[in-house]
Amino acid sequence: AAATSYDYIIVGGGTSGLVVANRLSEDSSVSVLVVEAGDSVYNNPNVTGTGAYGAAFGTSIDWAYQTIKQPYAGDLTQTIRAGKALGGTSTINGMAYTRAEDVQIDAWEAIGNQGWNWSTLFPYYLKSERFQIPINAQSAAGANWNPAYHGMNGPLTTGWTYEMMNGSMAEVLNATYQNLGISYLPDVNGGKMHGYTLFPRTVNRALDVREDAARAYYYPFESSRPNLSVMLNTYGNRIVWANATNTNSVTATGVEVTLSDGTVQTIQANKEVILSAGSLISPAILERSGVGNPTVLSRFGIPLVVNLTTVGENLQDQMNTEFIYLSNATFSGQSTFLGHPTAADLFGSNVTNVAKSVQSSLPHYAATVSEASNGTMSAAVLQKLFQLQYNIIFNNPTPIAEILVAPSGSKFITEYWALLPFARGNVHIGSANPLDRPVINPNYMMFEWDMQEQIASGKFVRKLYGTAPFTNWATGEATPGYSTLPANATDGQWAQWISSVSRSNFHPVGTAAMMPRDMGGVVDSNLVVYGTNNVRVIDASVLPLQVCGHLVSTLYAVAERASDLIKAGQV
Ligand code: FDA
Repeated sequence: AAATSYDYIIVGGGTSGLVVANRLSEDSSVSVLVVEAGDSVYNNPNVTGTGAYGAAFGTSIDWAYQTIKQPYAGDLTQTIRAGKALGGTSTINGMAYTRAEDVQIDAWEAIGNQGWNWSTLFPYYLKSERFQIPINAQSAAGANWNPAYHGMNGPLTTGWTYEMMNGSMAEVLNATYQNLGISYLPDVNGGKMHGYTLFPRTVNRALDVREDAARAYYYPFESSRPNLSVMLNTYGNRIVWANATNTNSVTATGVEVTLSDGTVQTIQANKEVILSAGSLISPAILERSGVGNPTVLSRFGIPLVVNLTTVGENLQDQMNTEFIYLSNATFSGQSTFLGHPTAADLFGSNVTNVAKSVQSSLPHYAATVSEASNGTMSAAVLQKLFQLQYNIIFNNPTPIAEILVAPSGSKFITEYWALLPFARGNVHIGSANPLDRPVINPNYMMFEWDMQEQIASGKFVRKLYGTAPFTNWATGEATPGYSTLPANATDGQWAQWISSVSRSNFHPVGTAAMMPRDMGGVVDSNLVVYGTNNVRVIDASVLPLQVCGHLVSTLYAVAERASDLIKAGQV
């Protein structure tokens, strides 16, 4: 039978939660419990297969959260996928390993999170990583790396599978990007992401399987750490408090959970409760525990414990749009080619006008988001945050789109997304029942810039496929095709098409943002929830601003650093 008391209880055994569980349990004198709603997927071929991306979608290990109808994006409902398994979303994701632009992490400190910047986070990217050096055949297929950017001794294996695509495609695309004025970037993981590159993946090359958080941070330690426990198929419902009368510093004493047979039980936490249930659930657990906006809580009869109105606000995701091209060749192997253009690359000589127009829209954007947050985020603060984001977009060589080319059979699949929209949404509970899904509203395409960025990126995709020497291989557009979206389509036609076909990019962040409390932050720079003594959030919820990389590399690094803060007694 499971014990009923642990020093640390981590709710959510996903990407971030398992890092924290591993690092805290390095100290054999502390006991750690992970409460995970999903099951083990160690032997699930939909997870382990390095070419199986998408196979897990719609199965029992995909939460498949639904948004409400998206008012700025065709009034459609979107599915936001997330992994329901030990290992969390790292068990179903695309396995891309790309970090962030250095200025984006520096922005965390600029908004008041002391100690969080590129140079303090960088060692933690390395600490988490065990890079697998490319063999000659992989280098010939385009794999490249800068030794200064990679860790060799961490738990997480990164690199390429042996089934990389042989042949000259890497060079063809390189030459094509050069012809578009975009240079080759040998290694995307050094904090400068502009260019054309082949990124590493979270894979175990020797075993030819996906590397996920459980394979990296849990299974190798399972038998040697009696102080590390995992409860699978168990939901964390809410935090239990010692004394909820002093709402300036409440203390968590445990977590109420629902076991797989439906039994509800409280497990005691002697030191801390850590929420790592992902950016769509951690804020919901806070709200069900009485931490949040009194207006939201009172709707469901939940007694207020900490008045923190911005819980669940500040939600930022991106939208993903797909093109398919035909090829005169047939491809096998696993290689995805990445282009990261800047605003100047996408808008050319018009970039100054675009920048001016966005700059003058910032007060309007800020006021609109403030209103959409029911006034919980102040327009003045938002304008400050948006100005920072504007500076990152227009005053730095920051990529503003990710363009993927994945040759597959006799086709090229291109997914692309604008990286830095200004849209902000929210996620809140829709009932007091902890097993119910929250109400999710990312407000995709809320602003003119968000659509303008997606349209410009789409036009760039067409330009890429129309540029030599890629034109020797790409022989025509299958989707959407020029009859659906003509060469001379207006931006209105582009917007309509984009709204009707795009999906969530599955990168939701920001819903328990790390920021000063008076700016609308939910956690402080130690990731402690304001108003609590011993509750932290450690997952994608805490990122105050979206990053250009895919998320897991940064989440692993944040969780590594957060673990050190906990071990150093930082509260
Ligand atoms: P994560 O979702 O990993 O963990 C949360 C855990 O909490 C889950 O295990 C969940 O089951 C559990 N949980 C939820 N509610 C609970 C409750 N009440 N009680 C107990 N447990 C609960 N990133 C990347 O770097 N490269 C890529 O290629 C991709 N591609 C990609 C594709 C797809 C389809 C998706 C959905 C996402 C990606 N991403 C990605 C994004 C990336 O995988 C994602 O952002 C992180 O894995 C999220 O990590 P977290 O720790 O925040 O939550």
